[in-house]
Amino acid sequence: MGFSVLVTRKLPSSVIAKLEAIAAVDLYTGDTAIPPAELRKRIADKDALVCLLTDTVDASVIDAAPALKIVANVAVGYNNIDVAYATSRSIIVTNTPDVLTESVADFTWALILAITRRVSEGERLVRRGEWKGWALDFMLGSELRGKQLGLVGLGRIGRAVAARAPAFGMHVAYASRRAGDIVGEQMSLDRLLNTSDVVSLHVPLTPETRHLIDKKTIARMKRSAYLVNTARGAIVDEAALAWAMQQRLLAGVALDVYENEPHIHPDLLQLENVLLAPHLGSGTTETRTAMADLAAENVTAVLAGRPALTPVHA
Ligand code: GLV
Repeated sequence: MGFSVLVTRKLPSSVIAKLEAIAAVDLYTGDTAIPPAELRKRIADKDALVCLLTDTVDASVIDAAPALKIVANVAVGYNNIDVAYATSRSIIVTNTPDVLTESVADFTWALILAITRRVSEGERLVRRGEWKGWALDFMLGSELRGKQLGLVGLGRIGRAVAARAPAFGMHVAYASRRAGDIVGEQMSLDRLLNTSDVVSLHVPLTPETRHLIDKKTIARMKRSAYLVNTARGAIVDEAALAWAMQQRLLAGVALDVYENEPHIHPDLLQLENVLLAPHLGSGTTETRTAMADLAAENVTAVLAGRPALTPVHA
């Protein structure tokens, strides 16, 4: 009997071809996330699911798929999947680590540079026709050289962000459960928040990290500090952040991820010292293709009875 796989969004044609070589492919071609009811319906007879971080794969989806063997997420984060429940049903869950590390680290630095040098704020002003010309004291930003970059979390992406810090003359501090193999000082989260000039978040979203950055933790940061989030939106209490920025408790914030994407807290949209990117961290053609390809490789391996390349565990 042949295998069948549900793919919840268009993927590069080379990746679809790879899946078609081993299974019948049911491709959802909508431009936005597959509606949950449609997902439950179409997964009913499938052996594999290739899904995106915008798809919630909870117990109701898993229960709707008695033959399911693998859920291959095209993302490194997998908070959209109930991994514990999948595991209890002997379903393998995979993600896409490594292939996106460098592009997310690059993008994190794009945000660090853009928020400290007011790039998007300046561009908005130019487009509004309000630029009156060069002036010595016009739209001054903040220098990175000699300052402290505080990394919350030191996994693959955190380490890649740290590796770029010397190029900008920043020294690195990090808060993480384990000592890291990087040049930088390990410290408690409190001390890191208290002493860093730029704080960048690189932890996965788990019950422990949800709203790690809230009114209380923001209050520990310097008023001259910047916050950058390229991890997951819900690590930050967005309402608390909007309030803090209205009170000018931080110098600036650059976000790529949000609690309820694509919805963004309306107060954040009003603030000039808040940079809002539309979840582009891994968004290069090369990286997105590599992510989709790795998901397809995981499906291929599992359906052939081999171990998954990049399994995740609850
Ligand atoms: C993107 O956000 C990812 O987790 O890969």
